[in-house]
Amino acid sequence: MKYSNEQLAQLIEPTRVHRKVYLDPDIFDMEMERIWGSAWIYIGHESQVKTPGEYATATMGNKVPVIMVRDKDSKIHVLHNRCGHKGAKLVDQASGKVSAFRCCYHGWTYRIDGKLVGVPNMPGYEGTGFDKSDPQYSMQKVAQYDSYRGFVFATLDPTAPKLTTWMGAGMAECLDNLCDRSPEGEVEVIGKPMRYVHDCNWKMFTENLNDGMHPMVVHQGVVDAALQYMKTVPEDSAERSEAEIIPPFGASYEHFESTDLFAYQYGHHYDGGRTSIHAAYSVPNDYEQLMIAAYGQKKTREILTFNSHNTMYYPSLTTKTAVQNIRVVRPISVNKTIIESWSFRLKGAPDNMLKRTILYSRLINSSFGMVGPDDLTAYYRMQNGLESNGSDWIEMHRHYGRDEDKGDYIHGLLTGDLDIRTQYKAWKDYMTREQLAQEVA
Ligand code: FES
Ligand SMILES: [Fe+2]
Repeated sequence: MKYSNEQLAQLIEPTRVHRKVYLDPDIFDMEMERIWGSAWIYIGHESQVKTPGEYATATMGNKVPVIMVRDKDSKIHVLHNRCGHKGAKLVDQASGKVSAFRCCYHGWTYRIDGKLVGVPNMPGYEGTGFDKSDPQYSMQKVAQYDSYRGFVFATLDPTAPKLTTWMGAGMAECLDNLCDRSPEGEVEVIGKPMRYVHDCNWKMFTENLNDGMHPMVVHQGVVDAALQYMKTVPEDSAERSEAEIIPPFGASYEHFESTDLFAYQYGHHYDGGRTSIHAAYSVPNDYEQLMIAAYGQKKTREILTFNSHNTMYYPSLTTKTAVQNIRVVRPISVNKTIIESWSFRLKGAPDNMLKRTILYSRLINSSFGMVGPDDLTAYYRMQNGLESNGSDWIEMHRHYGRDEDKGDYIHGLLTGDLDIRTQYKAWKDYMTREQLAQEVA
């Protein structure tokens, strides 16, 4: 390894980060092994694989290909996407359905739960000591996998804490809220994701999620345009309610200053809760009635007034509970990242709710949207600007020393840098863990 643990630790100070963490391909490789190979990584949602044999692929750690698949008993597994013979990747598509996995090279076949069942021309193995039933030749299970409310995560680290421990009650509450917004308490994926290539380091995206100091600057142009446009269309028109999604992205410093930020262990955090930029969205009456029928008046209020804006399950998943969108971080290289946006349907809710979700995704998250591309421009400029050795450090001082430690979490304000300091605390912990450093050396 190019960096010792001591050298890695020196890159992160309480209020400063060295620019190398965004630029150096060796650090990127170490992050993939030590963070992405150790944390719980979001693989996909159970509704992507509804019936036995349906699968979806993902990558964990340093380019480790995996498959999420539903077996014949409806159980979901996360398996290494690797043939037990000479190692060929078994499936090469993002998703599909199979009755068995058959390797493209020599035709070994596996049951959908990964067990090796077929080896062509077996007599050649007689007397060689090869045992087809030896589990080492089957598809291997990833060290740990589990799901929470239908969201499937896996880790390559057998010593990692349980998923619910890693997530913690505060972060679980955000996924609960996303699902509880369905009168049936469940969500399901709609269609395929939008995949949006970001020419920047993955951390520029994760550090933007709870950055309350940028919207009024970077999104000013589109907010001004939306406000002008809204003056030209009738109050109760569909165009007006679509355009209304945009202005909250240009809310004032005072607004973001009064929005809470909650930071947890393992680099997780979210902003909002009882208030957020989504708090003023109207609730359609037909939907509200279905919710009240399912949960009662009081609980419905509780669910619909909990508005976390961006919730970061560090490092791979970020959710927007109030609009049922998630974005998944898939790092490609030190300066290239794919962001996948998935939209969810609230089971049992009227179609207008799904329309709003898709509209939000299209207007805000997509590569041809009106908000996400503003942010991407800033990330790209940072990636470029940091090549300058004019200074080696990036600062994250805002509100340092004012965050309140509440035991289970740290409370701050959205205009502070608590979110970034939280991510770098986890970064340093993962990157310099003694035991892990020896295992991957
Ligand atoms: S590598 Fe898969 S069957 Fe040979
Ligand atoms: Fe933004």
